[in-house]
Amino acid sequence: MPEKKIIIVSNRLPVTIQREDGNLTFKPSAGGLATGLSSVYRQGNNLWIGWPGLYSQQEAEKDLITQNLRNDHMAPVFLTEEDVHEFYEGFSNKTLWPLFHYFTEYAQYQQVLWEAYERVNRKFCAQVLQYAGPDDVIWVHDYQLLLLPSMIREKLPNATIGFFQHIPFPSFEIFRLLPWRKQILEGMLGSDLIGFHTYDDMRHFLSSVSRILGHNNTMGLVKKENRLIQVDSFPMGIDYEKFARGTKDPQTIEKYKRYEKLLSDQKVIISIDRLDYSKGIKQRLKAMDIFFTRYPEYIGKVSLVLIVVPSRVKVDQYQALKEEIDTMVGWLNGKYSRMDWTPIHYFYRSFSFHGLSALYSSAEVALITPLRDGMNLVCKEFIASKLDKKGVLILSEMAGSAKELSEAILVNPNDIQQIVDAMYQALTMPEEEQIARNEEMQNKLKRYNIHRWVEMFMEQLEIVKQKQTELELR
Ligand code: F6P
Repeated sequence: MPEKKIIIVSNRLPVTIQREDGNLTFKPSAGGLATGLSSVYRQGNNLWIGWPGLYSQQEAEKDLITQNLRNDHMAPVFLTEEDVHEFYEGFSNKTLWPLFHYFTEYAQYQQVLWEAYERVNRKFCAQVLQYAGPDDVIWVHDYQLLLLPSMIREKLPNATIGFFQHIPFPSFEIFRLLPWRKQILEGMLGSDLIGFHTYDDMRHFLSSVSRILGHNNTMGLVKKENRLIQVDSFPMGIDYEKFARGTKDPQTIEKYKRYEKLLSDQKVIISIDRLDYSKGIKQRLKAMDIFFTRYPEYIGKVSLVLIVVPSRVKVDQYQALKEEIDTMVGWLNGKYSRMDWTPIHYFYRSFSFHGLSALYSSAEVALITPLRDGMNLVCKEFIASKLDKKGVLILSEMAGSAKELSEAILVNPNDIQQIVDAMYQALTMPEEEQIARNEEMQNKLKRYNIHRWVEMFMEQLEIVKQKQTELELR
């Protein structure tokens, strides 16, 4: 009997291919998911299926890419420009992303985008079917592929299918606004196991399944026709050791020394996100303004290092937000700067691992205040990087990670006054208190790291499949 394969499917592959001077370059992703799953997809005949990040029309080039990826256990789904425009920038990021993050006013409901979403999910399905055997394990990731589990199930009824949602699942009152709400739920229910970061997301999903499709659940177990579907929460962790070790790396130390010299005599607050309206970046900048007005003694003594990583640059709201942030930073720096001090150090680009690691270890405060976030891993990376356990995390209650990191200073990201108070509390917090809080959080993050997250999901997937087999034997 052939060995069972595990196939990971996500919109993006853990590598991005680019065309530079006529040559193809392969850039591996350093993200948490890629790290956590590398122990899975690189084994045996396992593989990862996804979009390689470039448009390719020539068959010879597609063959070359396919061959190269195959050597590293990956298989590409080639998308056209139209697919990317309508499926990725379109239904995924103009409909689902805003709706699932409670930005209902941004969500667009266009039939053409929905059709593209279905079409591209089918493309992914076709590629999965090229490789998957009838009893293989298939783990689908995230909101771009919500229809894929049932598309695969239709063709491979016995396959073991897991699905993990990396972004929030909204409450029923929000979800029901979606014209294609039934199809989306049916698509997800093709899985054997559906995972969310938090208990609340899981509860919201189950409530929609019950109220829209009429399927009730017992302890997260949904019975649909002759199938059992388990729904559960699995808070995603980070590669703790990578960040803890990273701070001792000579390249990090070199950058750390440079930052310390440049920002000497100053307390540093860091803010690191993709450019996204869900992250609360404008609210954070407003809080900085009020903070300097209310506590002028900190002028010249505290600065914000604001890293905003370019994202979804072709989507209107992202372009508009970029302009607003540029304006606000310019205005704040114009208002408060001195010859020898700048309040906001603004970087519109991504940082290397060592750059981030140096910033995490040198910053006194991390200000992570998303208006809504599935999990947020930056706050976990900050805590893991604090070898001396000194530093304060200000964290939004609306981030999934707030459920685990209760020792952070938790704030409502819409309450600017509360953010200002939290900044003052963070900058004046006694060291013993910082150490005590961070020690607690570090212990949790060490235990529930990314590897444990993968194991827990896979173990649970096996358990559901056993329950399903028992049900069929009865
Ligand atoms: O948080 C959801 C997510 O899709 C992540 O998986 C991904 O890292 C991030 O958003 C950015 O996504 P993209 O650049 O593919 O739109």
